Amino acid sequence: MSQVKPYKDTEAGKKEQVTEMFDNISGNYDALNRVITFGMDISWRKNVFKIVKKQLPASILDIATGTGDMAILYAQTDAKKIVGLDISSGMLEVAKTKTKKKNLEEVIEYKLGDAEHLPFENESFDVVTVTYGIRNFEDLEKGLSEILRVLSPNGMLVVLETSIPENFILRQGYMVHTKYMLPLIGRLFSTDKKAYAYLSESARDFPYGKKLKAIFEKVGYNKVEVLPQAGGISTIYKAVK
Ligand SMILES: C[S@@+](CC[C@H](N)C(=O)[O-])C[C@H]1O[C@@H](n2cnc3c(N)ncnc32)[C@H](O)[C@@H]1O
Repeated sequence: MSQVKPYKDTEAGKKEQVTEMFDNISGNYDALNRVITFGMDISWRKNVFKIVKKQLPASILDIATGTGDMAILYAQTDAKKIVGLDISSGMLEVAKTKTKKKNLEEVIEYKLGDAEHLPFENESFDVVTVTYGIRNFEDLEKGLSEILRVLSPNGMLVVLETSIPENFILRQGYMVHTKYMLPLIGRLFSTDKKAYAYLSESARDFPYGKKLKAIFEKVGYNKVEVLPQAGGISTIYKAVK
């Protein structure tokens, strides 16, 4: 799977490098995220939230929860158990601070952990979500299999990930944005210059649409739906256990 790594001049594996990179950028991740997507990620996240809410889940796991935006949104569902998991302690610290500010510490539990070795029993969650996380996994199929294991029977996985628009004009705009604008924004505003080059390079390299659907199916998911957002700049995938 995608082995684009943040720091090409070091020997460490993708997982170690990704963890270090997100620890480095955790402090300005939220602000840069809004700038990079022109704020559009907020409406795509809301669409994920609507799909999740409709499932009436009693338990939700948000993997690669980062700074906790999705976990915090899930506090508006009737779920009794909401867990956010991430491999970066830096990102989780930001998530915990935001959660505390909203008085939701009793509602959301955060766990430091690896998506490819989930610290949960089989069939523990009705819904699992991953927003902008799966392209950072070292072994995508292992991560997706682990999610399948912890999902309840008929449970649902909802993924939001970057994709490349099919429309020619949108596609050119997208390429200019990811190839030149994104690394420039990263260089200007981030403390980690290489991080934003990695984020855009990995976005261009990662499978999306039919290709990613085929990977979900190979791992064992059913009823996989592909829902492009804003002409395909990002895509939501729904899949059932
Ligand atoms: C681009 S951020 C997305 C954060 C958040 N979900 C969002 O939508 O803003 C990717 C997150 O994936 C986490 N991550 C990467 N690999 C992981 C793994 N194997 N297990 C758990 N989290 C991982 C990173 O630490 C980072 O917080």
